[in-house]
Amino acid sequence: MSAQEINRQIATVRELLSERPQGLQAHVERVLEEAFGLAKVWDVSKERIELAVIGHDLFRAVAPEEQVRFAEEAGLKIQDEFRENPILLHGPLAANLLATAVGVKDDEVLVAIREHTSGYSEMSLLAKILVISDKVESVKRRDNFALEAIRNLADRDLDMALLCWADWKWVKERQSGWQSTQSHWEVRFQWVTEHHKDIAMPKVSSFTAFERVAKNFPAVALPIQSQQSQVQVQE
Ligand SMILES: [Fe+2]
Ligand SMILES: [Fe+2]
Repeated sequence: MSAQEINRQIATVRELLSERPQGLQAHVERVLEEAFGLAKVWDVSKERIELAVIGHDLFRAVAPEEQVRFAEEAGLKIQDEFRENPILLHGPLAANLLATAVGVKDDEVLVAIREHTSGYSEMSLLAKILVISDKVESVKRRDNFALEAIRNLADRDLDMALLCWADWKWVKERQSGWQSTQSHWEVRFQWVTEHHKDIAMPKVSSFTAFERVAKNFPAVALPIQSQQSQVQVQE
């Protein structure tokens, strides 16, 4: 795809985004900030990341009954779980809009948007960056040690960061009564398998990118060390 074409698509999606609620737009900008940082570390195209991020939540603020209606009108397959929890439709609706009205043909971008709520097995690097950036953007991780550590971890191991986020989410769902979704938990089991087979590790494709990853290592190690020293003092 030409640079001109993707820039046209970005401009069109930006226009759509500007009509969404301010709070949602602010969330998207925060996700973008994280995603640009991770795209640099993992050598992913900045423009493709931008398209995925600015498109991912275009239907997030739509009322649940409207989401079902839009999905029916668009002829999308609505699983039972989606009817019970229509917010799960906001990714598929956004991907459909980008494909049909904006002319996006980049499958990785479309699938990443469609599946960003729960994630999916054997995700592309671009999808992993979208999912983790969405879950740990700066406001979500404020005063949250676990999400802060997960964000730092993403600079050196995106798969482990996703697994840690999934486990954090499981605990949060049990503690706070957040709804669990079956699709997310099925995917989580697949991520564990992928992790043990070591087949889904993103590849760092240049020495410069490797250097950036290596430099970020202490950011993850330090909080763990300080926790250990606290344990020793208590003993
Ligand atoms: Fe979303
Ligand atoms: Fe989001």
